[in-house]
Amino acid sequence: MGRCVIKSLPEMKLARSRVEKAKLIRGEKTVAPSLSSFAKGKKYLIKTFGCQGNVRDEETMAGLLELAGFTKTTVEKEADLVIINTCAVRENAEDKVYGEIGKFKANKKANKDFMLAVCGCMMQEEGVAQKLLASYPHITLIFGTHNVPDLLDLLAESVERHKTIVDIHSFAGDIIEDLPAKRNDPYKAFVNISYGCDKFCTYCIVPYTRGRERSRPLEDILKECKELIEAGYKEITLLGQNVNSYGKDFKDGTSFATVLEEVAKLGIARLRFMTSHPWDFSLEMIDIIAKYPNIMKCIHLPVQSGSTEMLRLMGRRYTREEYLALVKNIRERIPDVALTTDIIVGFPNETAEQFEDTLTLCEEVKYDAAFTFIYSPRKGTPAAAIADNVSDEDKHERFNRLLKVIESGVMSHSKTMVGKTYKVLVDGPSKKDETMLSGYTENSKLINFRGPSYLKGEIVDVKIIEDHAFSMIGELVEDPLIIKAKAFKENLLKDPLIKEFLSVSKAIDEDESLIALRKDIEAAQRDLASKVVDDEAHKIAKEKYASLMKEYEEHPLIHNYAALHDDVESLLKEITEGLK
Ligand code: SAH
Ligand code: SF4
Ligand code: F3S
Repeated sequence: MGRCVIKSLPEMKLARSRVEKAKLIRGEKTVAPSLSSFAKGKKYLIKTFGCQGNVRDEETMAGLLELAGFTKTTVEKEADLVIINTCAVRENAEDKVYGEIGKFKANKKANKDFMLAVCGCMMQEEGVAQKLLASYPHITLIFGTHNVPDLLDLLAESVERHKTIVDIHSFAGDIIEDLPAKRNDPYKAFVNISYGCDKFCTYCIVPYTRGRERSRPLEDILKECKELIEAGYKEITLLGQNVNSYGKDFKDGTSFATVLEEVAKLGIARLRFMTSHPWDFSLEMIDIIAKYPNIMKCIHLPVQSGSTEMLRLMGRRYTREEYLALVKNIRERIPDVALTTDIIVGFPNETAEQFEDTLTLCEEVKYDAAFTFIYSPRKGTPAAAIADNVSDEDKHERFNRLLKVIESGVMSHSKTMVGKTYKVLVDGPSKKDETMLSGYTENSKLINFRGPSYLKGEIVDVKIIEDHAFSMIGELVEDPLIIKAKAFKENLLKDPLIKEFLSVSKAIDEDESLIALRKDIEAAQRDLASKVVDDEAHKIAKEKYASLMKEYEEHPLIHNYAALHDDVESLLKEITEGLK
């Protein structure tokens, strides 16, 4: 493999160890001159599989690439750099990746500078990188989840040395701040609050691919959220494999409840979070969710199985009864809460009775949505070593039965929504029908409705008229023009120039010295009017009036107002023209 430079390869043993302490690394990234001249005029495309953690990594990579000078494209054929960001959580997630990699052989043929990089969780598995190198010579770079911050250096090295670079660290992981981001959505954002996972559920690969559980400093989380709010974001989802454990590594009492409360207080319109492990869901968290109206009453609470014995074998650390007690507690304290979940069917040796336990639990909880998966053995995890006596056929049959139970639970909620009005954050045109808009309610129901496209990014009232299991049809309650006018007013008032103009104008009204001066000017005006023109007394009164006016105009606040005046006028003109 002379064309390859292998800097590091993953090792499951290392990935499992939790000995190193996470370091906090700050500092902005620089771009090697070789990479910036290579990037000139070149386009990148990133294809992401897997969870929101990967989506957030995509945004970081996009931010880094744009820093280097690449521009984004969505057209595969015209991409000069493609990054395939993989997921390892189930086999079917992995299967898709090979097809994707094969597809870009054509780009390499047509363009000698073409670069193909493969990254993400799948690269953290032993043997995957070697397999890719052997079968796909058109790959230029392979890197792991811990190497995302080094993307620009790795690309520069590949460009300079004309080699395929492989760098996949297997270690507990650090926290890297100050990375740029090019976000995928202008209204909804993901914000990482913690990385990695220490739970080691016996079926799951994530603790190996993402490293130890480590919390981001609260100040960095709040800074990112503030910037998002200032940029007009309407929804923030706080991300972590298990958000409830936030702060345990600080040992100073900071908890997830603290983060929730502090972010809610910043005033974001909608605050969501995921994922919560049922094991350390505190009462304090429940109370904070109940207390703040901008924290969405929607909790993703993966149960995985309804059988206590299965849960024990899965290493989930709670029983069926404990889970149900938590659900009861949440529902008592947050009456309108929507609950969603993840379920694995066919964990090794799951008996028919144990599967029935999952069905009865779902019947009892009546989830608002559930992601259901057939168990997929992941090499290196404890469960993968268990001999399994359940046939694929049985697993599929159980899976289909589970879907029916889930659907009837979902429908029972959807039915109650018909005829009622809900707040919907408009995502844009519906994926299935371009003539409709779509968006999510506060409790995460997908609603399609007719309305003008400029409502994208607005929160509007929609009345539900038809229920389907996984999406609903609604109609706008307010006249779209009124919604537009309200949004216009809101945005205008948020504009920094307008804000300053209004605040200076208010200060002028309230300033003591100016109030006194205005009174003196009025008196001088009256005095002047009472004098006979051309009289000496008239001359004196005129001078008095002029000197008071001069003093008024030279006051710093009045000066400031005059300076802003023209800018405000041209901004308003620009906006009104834009509206036409
Ligand atoms: N940290 C999150 C989930 C991450 S993975 C949590 O604990 O909830 C998302 C979901 O994938 C899991 O909840 C689980 O239902 C499913 N999953 C994980 N490993 C799996 C495997 N080996 N086979 C099938 N499903 C799996
Ligand atoms: Fe995987 Fe369990 Fe960690 Fe979730 S909590 S990421 S299922 S090990
Ligand atoms: Fe997949 Fe990695 Fe996320 S395995 S689910 S992309 S953490």
